[in-house]
Amino acid sequence: MQLTLTRPDDWHLHLRDGVALATTVPDTARSFHRAIVMPNLRPPVVTVDAAIAYRDRILAAVPNGMTFDPLMTLYLTPDLGPEIIKEAASSEHVHGVKLYPQGATTNSDAGVASLDRVMPTLEAMTDTGLPLLIHGEVTDRSIDIFDREAVFLDRTLGPLMQRLPSLKVVLEHITTKDSVDFVKANPGMGATITVHHLIYERNDMLAGGIRPHLYCLPILKRSLHRDALIEAATSGSPQFFLGTDSAPHAIDDKESDCGCAGCYTAPFALELYAEVFEAQGKLDQLEAFASFNGADFYGLARNTEIITLLRTESLIPLTRLLGDKEVKLLRGGSTVAWSLA
Ligand code: DOR
Ligand code: ZN
Repeated sequence: MQLTLTRPDDWHLHLRDGVALATTVPDTARSFHRAIVMPNLRPPVVTVDAAIAYRDRILAAVPNGMTFDPLMTLYLTPDLGPEIIKEAASSEHVHGVKLYPQGATTNSDAGVASLDRVMPTLEAMTDTGLPLLIHGEVTDRSIDIFDREAVFLDRTLGPLMQRLPSLKVVLEHITTKDSVDFVKANPGMGATITVHHLIYERNDMLAGGIRPHLYCLPILKRSLHRDALIEAATSGSPQFFLGTDSAPHAIDDKESDCGCAGCYTAPFALELYAEVFEAQGKLDQLEAFASFNGADFYGLARNTEIITLLRTESLIPLTRLLGDKEVKLLRGGSTVAWSLA
């Protein structure tokens, strides 16, 4: 048995920088033609020139014989003004601006504490049609970590959508039924869904021992939320699309007193998504989710190349080297039911 698909894209990806690119870029380019590349480097990517320079470093890491088109993003800081939005919107290489609530996740300290401060920037994005890509969690310490996404919808995203109803928004890596319902109620919005949030729920991370390699943000939720994500991803709705949020961290940084958030999923993400869709009897919806919906949302042409997935097992290696740092792969050391031809 085999499945042919239009070559997919990854609409939310962390490639990191420097020596890591020699591993992360081929690991993604193997399956995906394009990826929306996250700007949470140190220092963050805050100018069009910096985004283009980062893009050039990524392109330099694409092996001969592979093609890959990195779609760049800027990091929204309180200083990113409307002039930069105009420049970004007219650049062929910048496709969105990422909102990190300050302190929400890895390298988010330069993010935005209050949206009021960046209203002129968001208005310029509304005018130019440049999408806002949102890490949707409040950072208020009094809010339980499992509730931070749902509270963000009430406190921040709902009011923002009322204020700027034509702002193009992608709610990234959604993890709750609340977000699925919110997106469905706002037909102009898009949302990405990671493969780890489709496979795992919080018991997998916390019951019978703590598994730091499943720790990501937004954190895994209870199974009813995972079920709602599976339903949304496999539903055929054009609002939901593939975004791995593949985010490598060295093993030492994950297995620590204060471990980093992120799962390295890129190398076998497509095969793992296929397993999820197959388990639902929805393999016929994989192409829309992986190859069509994101491109349509971003107003880009769909890919024309075809890839083939074979229904034969692949072994996911336990680790990968990023420079001299070892990183664990999601489900490393086990098999996945599909392989890329
Ligand atoms: O788990 C995560 N890792 N979530 C994020 O939002 C950021 C990412 C990273 O950059 O490591
Ligand atoms: Zn991310």
